[in-house]
Parts: sequence; structure tokens; C-alpha cells
Amino acid sequence: MSIFFTFFLFFTSVTPHKYLPIDRIPVWKSKNDPNIGPAFGQPEQIRLAYGGDESTYSVTWQTYDDTLKSIVEYGTDISDLKNSVEGRCAVFLDGQKHSVWRYIHRVNLTGLEPGTRYYYHVGSEHGWSPIFFFTALKERESGGYIYAVYGDLGVENGRSLGTIQKMAQKGELDMVLHVGDFAYNMDESNGETGDEFFRQIEPISGYIPYMAAVGNHEYYNNFTHYVNRFTMPNSEHNLFYSYDLGPVHFIVFSTEFYFNLHLGYHQMENQFNWLTNDLKKANENRKEVPWIITQGHRPMYCSDFDGDDCTKYESIIRTGLPLTHGYALEKLFYEYGVDVELWAHEHSYERLWPVYNRTVFNGTQQPYVDPPAPVHIITGSAGCRENTDVFIEHPPPWSAIRSTDYGFGVMRVYNSTHLNFKQINVAQGGTEDDDFWVIKSSPKHHRPFKHRDLKRLRTYGTHVPKHHCHHKSHCDETRKKRTRRHQKRDE
Ligand SMILES: *[C@@H]1O[C@H](CO)[C@@H](O)[C@H](O)[C@H]1NC(C)=O
Ligand SMILES: *[C@@H]1O[C@H](CO)[C@@H](O)[C@H](O)[C@H]1NC(C)=O
Ligand SMILES: *[C@@H]1O[C@H](CO)[C@@H](O)[C@H](O)[C@H]1NC(C)=O
Ligand SMILES: *[C@@H]1O[C@H](CO)[C@@H](O)[C@H](O)[C@H]1NC(C)=O
Ligand SMILES: *[C@@H]1O[C@H](CO)[C@@H](O)[C@H](O)[C@H]1NC(C)=O
Ligand SMILES: [Fe+2]
Repeated sequence: MSIFFTFFLFFTSVTPHKYLPIDRIPVWKSKNDPNIGPAFGQPEQIRLAYGGDESTYSVTWQTYDDTLKSIVEYGTDISDLKNSVEGRCAVFLDGQKHSVWRYIHRVNLTGLEPGTRYYYHVGSEHGWSPIFFFTALKERESGGYIYAVYGDLGVENGRSLGTIQKMAQKGELDMVLHVGDFAYNMDESNGETGDEFFRQIEPISGYIPYMAAVGNHEYYNNFTHYVNRFTMPNSEHNLFYSYDLGPVHFIVFSTEFYFNLHLGYHQMENQFNWLTNDLKKANENRKEVPWIITQGHRPMYCSDFDGDDCTKYESIIRTGLPLTHGYALEKLFYEYGVDVELWAHEHSYERLWPVYNRTVFNGTQQPYVDPPAPVHIITGSAGCRENTDVFIEHPPPWSAIRSTDYGFGVMRVYNSTHLNFKQINVAQGGTEDDDFWVIKSSPKHHRPFKHRDLKRLRTYGTHVPKHHCHHKSHCDETRKKRTRRHQKRDE
């Protein structure tokens, strides 16, 4: 038994990314018999992540025994992987009774040349992965970066997987933004569902950075699988973090803190303070990095027929904790001029008209040109065992386009003024459910929303009051009963 056992059992769920000492002596080595080595040295579940600037990537993988070394060998010539970088290894025990010992290896690749293709494999003398490749991030010649955007992708019924894998390998995507809910669930079958998930996404994450946000399905043992398996930039826990890529400042945060106060009220408070501070800094840097795009799992608004937070008059994510309205996010994001808010959780696609405080801006010819409020997009139908969600028949005025077919988003931020979003419908063989632009007539229009925006919103917009009746079929007694029955479901 390793002398480090007690140390890690104690720290594993609370202090993530605690690396094993480099000069450790693994159990197999302590026998002092050169004929004994690690029993399971084969690396698997290779995943790349963006390191926070174009020249830095992190590589993460798993083994089931201590291989002592965690190495990435890489180079521009597939037959000569001449660079070798050593990283660190952490043991992850998830807290289940017969928890599997998972060795999570992490290596930073730095000094990468944007636009250069690198071949690499990972492992140690006890086992190497196949050779993968990636092209260090660089703006496309025709403008910007292309992101796959989706949430709610499971091991079972992961309907969008094949399309995304192929696009990633063909160079049609630069990065994935997975907005919460993985595997269904990573902790199930003693964590093997998580292992299987990371094997299934390897044909994506071996080639392009796979960026994560936490969802409700990761709640087990204080989000331990999410925290310990991913490696997101500028963060030790992956729960909230931000990074810049091209003209975009991405902010990723946890909506789950609001619904798991028993795991620590301070987490929501810490995050809110961090968000405020990060938004402040992002606004000071807006000349350089004009767009601000957020990612959180549970949306503020939606028109699904399931009684989720986003169906409520005052959803918690939008207006904060009940009664006190503490830590409300809609106001914060409005005051700091967030341009686009990406969400999932609802197993459907829905694009909203620019909206703030239930006032909907659809009253002009071009609502997405210099919108006076953030633009929300919900894309949570990548595919999982819980199928897709149904909508209420007659949507509230904020709903612009919706689809309950399986699919995922493809977002392209061309430059400082033009952002395009498409929703690919995989159920219908790759047709598009949506294709729209968010446009700023000048980069200067990326700024905190001001009084004149609110005036424009009120003048041309529609306020949706509490007892707004979208259609008389929504306001009768039968419907209320049906809704109540549906509220038990968990997305
Ligand atoms: C990778 O770089 C980050 C940022 O400098 C650092 O915090 C982290 O510990 C590094 N990881 C490894 C495995 O060296
Ligand atoms: C959950 O983990 C966070 C750190 O990620 C910690 O601050 C919090 O106290 C933990 N909660 C519990 C109940 O252990
Ligand atoms: C939102 O509108 C309501 C009235 O509908 C008002 O009471 C509330 O103060 C507004 N909230 C914000 C943050 O502006
Ligand atoms: C804008 O909202 C109003 C009020 O709900 C509605 O009647 C109108 O059809 C909407 N316009 C569009 C373009 O959706
Ligand atoms: C930004 O990209 C859009 C879409 O490709 C293009 O029409 C526009 O001219 C570009 N603007 C600048 C300043 O390059
Ligand atoms: Fe969810």
C-alpha cells in the first residue's frame, strides 16, 4: 500500500489537482524487484484543453496504475516526435465504497506555434497512446474561430457524437464548449460511465480542445468527477474560470451552486465576487477583446414544458435567491454588457430575442444588430438517455426559434463585430434549425448596457408581466394540473 494513500483519501474531493510527489516510490517500485512494474500502464481518455493563450494547451489522460512518469512526446513530423514534456499525476478517488484508483495525468504544452500541426502521443515507458494530432489555434483565414456548443451529452443515446467527431477530425471545428451534463452520470457504475464518456469523446478531444462547464448531473460528491477529471485554464477546480480567445472573453460559471446550497453557501458568494471582478476587468480590456460570452448550465428563460427554474416567473439564476434576490445574474450580466449567454439543461434548442428583465426586444427590423440587451441561446439536445424535452405549445414572447430535435450549435465569431450561430439538426441528417447573426455596427458597441439601451428596449420592446397569458390554453385549470405533474422530472 502506498504511503500516500491516507494523504490522498483525505484531500481528494476538496483540494483538486493535488499532484503526487515527483520523487515518490509507487507500490510496484517499492518491492525493489525490477521484474515488477505497474499492472495497468496503458493511457486512455486523452483530452486536450485550451491553456489560456494560443501557444498553450493542456493534455489530460488516465491510467489505472501509477506509471511514475506522465509524458507527452510531440513534433511536427509524425515519424519524429522529438519534443518530450513531462507533467504531473494526481490520484482521484471519488468517495464510493469500492472506489477505483484513477491516475489523472496532466501535461502543459507551451510555446506552440499558432497554425502549426503537431502530432503527439501520451504515456510513459509502460504504455503509449495512439498518435493524435492538433493544429495550434489560429484565426481562420476567412475570419475567427468555430466552436461546437452543446450540453447534455450522455454515453447512452449521444446522438450528436458522430457528427461532432467527424467535424473535429476534418478541421471544421476549433474547439468544443460543452455547457454541462456529461455522461449521465460520470459517477455511475463506480465511475465507469465517466470513463466510457471520456473514451467516447476522445475522437473529438484528442484533436481539438474540449472545454467544460458544470451541470446538475455532475453533483455527486461535491462535483468530484468534474473537478478531478477536467483541466480548465486559470482554475484549479474548473467550476468557474475565464479565458480569451481571439475577440472573445469567455466566462464559464456554475449555476449549480444556486441549487446546492448544502455544499457550501460560500461557493455561490465566491463565484459571484469572482464574476463581478472578472467582468470589470473584461470591460477594461474591451478594446482588445470586445465580445463577452458566458456559459452556464441552467438558463434564465425558456419555454419548455417541465417546470424547470427557467419556466418560473422569477427564476433563481435570473433574479437570485428567493426573497433576498441575492447573487442575481441577469442584472450583473446586463450591467457589464455581456453580449451572448450560452445555456443548456433544457433538452431542446431555443434562441431568444434580446431580453432583459422580461422585456423582449423584437420590435425592430433587426433585433440582433446592436441589441439593447444580452442574447440568450439554449442548446441542450446533443443527446442523452433522457430524450428531448417538449415545449409549451404557445411560447412566451421572448422565444424566437425553437426545436426539440437532437442537435448541437456551431458558433463562429468572425471578428469584433460579427457572430454567427447555427443549430445543426442531427435527427434530420444535418439540416439547420437556425442560422442567425449577432452584429455590432461598431466594435465600440461592446460595452455595459446603459440608460439609452433600456429606453430603446422599453420603447420598442414588449414587457411580459407575471400573469401574461400567451394563449388561453395556457391559462386554464387543465394546464396547471398538467404542469404540476411534470415538475417532478429532472433534466
Ligand atoms: C500547467 O500550467 C498551469 C498554469 O501555469 C499551472 O497552474 C499548472 O500547475 C501546470 N500543470 C502542470 C501539470 O504542470
Ligand atoms: C465542496 O468543494 C468546495 C471546493 O471546490 C468547497 O469549498 C466546499 O466546502 C465543499 N463542500 C463540501 C460540503 O465539502
Ligand atoms: C424588473 O422589473 C420589475 C417590474 O416588473 C421591477 O420591480 C424590478 O425592480 C426590475 N428589476 C431590475 C433588476 O431592474
Ligand atoms: C413580437 O412580440 C409581439 C408580442 O408578443 C408579437 O405579437 C409579435 O409577433 C412578435 N414579433 C415577432 C417578429 O416575433
Ligand atoms: C467581420 O466579418 C463579417 C462576416 O464575415 C464581414 O462581413 C465583415 O466585413 C467583417 N468585418 C471586418 C471589420 O473585418
Ligand atoms: Fe441539466
